[in-house]
Amino acid sequence: MADKKFYITTPIYYPSDKLHIGHTYSTVQADAVSRYKRLRGYDTFFLTGTDEHGQKIEDKAKEAGVTPKEYVDKIVDGIKDLWKLMNITNDKFIRTTDEYHEKAVQLIFNKMYEKGDIYKGEYEGLYCKPCEAFWTETQAADGLCPDCGRPVITAKEEAYFFKLSKYADRLLEYYAAHPGFIEPAHRETEMVNNFIKPGLQDLCISRSTFKWGIPVPINPDHVIYVWLDALTNYITALGYGSEDDSLFKKFWPADVHLIGKDITRFHTVYWPAFLMSLDIPLPEKVYCHGWVLLDGGKMSKSKGNVVDPVQLAERYGVDALRYYLLREVAFGADGIFSNENLINRINSDLANDLGNLVSRTVAMVCKYFDVTIPAEREDGEFDAELKALAAETKTEAEKYLDALNFSESLTSIWKFISRTNKYIDETAPWALAKDESNKARLAEVMYNLCESIRIISVFVAPFMPETSVEIRTQLGLAPVEDWEECGVFGKEETYTVVKGDIIFPRLDPEKELEELASLNKAPSNPLRDEIEGVAKIGIDDFAKVDLRVAEVKACEPVAKAKKLLKLTLDDGTGEDRTVASGIALYYKPDELIGKKVILVSNLKSATLCGVESKGMILAADAGEEIKVIFVDGIANGTKIR
Ligand code: MSP
Repeated sequence: MADKKFYITTPIYYPSDKLHIGHTYSTVQADAVSRYKRLRGYDTFFLTGTDEHGQKIEDKAKEAGVTPKEYVDKIVDGIKDLWKLMNITNDKFIRTTDEYHEKAVQLIFNKMYEKGDIYKGEYEGLYCKPCEAFWTETQAADGLCPDCGRPVITAKEEAYFFKLSKYADRLLEYYAAHPGFIEPAHRETEMVNNFIKPGLQDLCISRSTFKWGIPVPINPDHVIYVWLDALTNYITALGYGSEDDSLFKKFWPADVHLIGKDITRFHTVYWPAFLMSLDIPLPEKVYCHGWVLLDGGKMSKSKGNVVDPVQLAERYGVDALRYYLLREVAFGADGIFSNENLINRINSDLANDLGNLVSRTVAMVCKYFDVTIPAEREDGEFDAELKALAAETKTEAEKYLDALNFSESLTSIWKFISRTNKYIDETAPWALAKDESNKARLAEVMYNLCESIRIISVFVAPFMPETSVEIRTQLGLAPVEDWEECGVFGKEETYTVVKGDIIFPRLDPEKELEELASLNKAPSNPLRDEIEGVAKIGIDDFAKVDLRVAEVKACEPVAKAKKLLKLTLDDGTGEDRTVASGIALYYKPDELIGKKVILVSNLKSATLCGVESKGMILAADAGEEIKVIFVDGIANGTKIR
């Protein structure tokens, strides 16, 4: 059984923001290969989870006015829901705030310490005092804190260090002795040349400027560095360091750590060194996939261009999205996401090629044979070629799936789908159906088509699990249980088909693109639109307005002007100032006397209904009424800026 186990992990995600389509890509890949391995009879363990400690989370929780745990709990629920929606079949979901994990991480720290791989030293870096945060040279490139913009200083703090430098040679030896440990290979070259060979520095593995982390067991004023905490999830999830480590014994070493290219260094340098320190064997492979990008580059919350997987999955179906991600991003490379590409893929690959093949075939079996294909059948031209390609496709699909090359695997499967469609054109069942003497040949053609579709339902099962089940339902078959089924042409004796819905309805590209664009527009906000519509002024323009606190000394109506009140103001100069204000419908003169108002003192004077008004007072246009802005406790004449 030992060689029939498969342990795969995804990175554990930061529960700081909503996950986007890039994170979904990471997890969907791990799910596809896990499903494939299960179908091949491997005892599979698929791990994902969340990475919940660190200053960022602590800060965000503070901002939100909740505890860090309350903050992450909510987001983690959303992440679990997303994986449920995407049909992710993880065997375990680890949270780094789980008690067993925290305990095991402390035990790991102690083990490394006892081995002499951890020592106390001084961490020196660029420090922002008000934010209590250390920054790297790049982060604080201009000498300013990237968070608050205040100058950073060079500061030292006591910290624990891991002797990473000690492992440099062993790491290089390990890479050399284990080709394929890091994939794609150019990532290994990158690590060796840019990182290990120039000289590995020891790694600071504790922090004392924030609290949200696992306490260092030998000094609880410090918390353990998030990456030491996070990376060890791959073994703590299996019970390493707990009373029951049977899963660890069974599944470790991991067969694949599937990660995004941005976290290669942590997984191929730090993690192996930690494992060496603990005398634990290294994982078989670290596979660094590329990124899902947008036309203009990275997705980012600040750019407001984050693609929401929930929105797309709900609109087009989970399988369409899974297919698109796995097909569109080439092995180890970045892929560009666009709504246009997605819709084209759905229309051409899923609706036209696959969906049509299934519905045409089922419809023909219904039409020509009233749902059941007769037993009397006759081989003919084109059959052998179709069968040969089925066998070839199995080999190809397996080769690429084993190598985690999802897009090539799907490309070869689609070649077989196209070949099956071509078989319909070549055999022309509609022509055969015209003559009763062709009945046995027609039966064989229909049978071969159903067999091809059955095989396709196995091929697509890891990628599009619901579609596989739907296809098989229409063929009258139970869900696939064994991958090897796709290696046998002629498995079923016959088929009794069940007409079903169209699996992938064709989309109207123009309409879809328009609707997607409008969905992603910021929700309408008339007030914001109104504010944005007001012509912008510079600070210099604003500085031209002289605003002062003034007190209403006297107030009276203006004859012949129903709306006007004449105010006598004390503006702090010792001289009375007269202002006419259009507020008579909302205030009685007595209500204003003694009140302090805001005066626009440098407004050119104007005569209103016989009153020379020197300035104006500020009031809010509150819909049905006008409300004067009153101020309190500020001396008359004080400037307002
Ligand atoms: N918490 C760390 C991982 C710790 S693993 C011990 C982390 N989390 S993350 O949430 O920022 O990223 C998780 C994964 O998502 C990473 O593998 C990252 O590369 C991947 N992706 C994030 N954005 C992505 C794309 N746009 N495209 C593809 N993958 C992307 O890093």
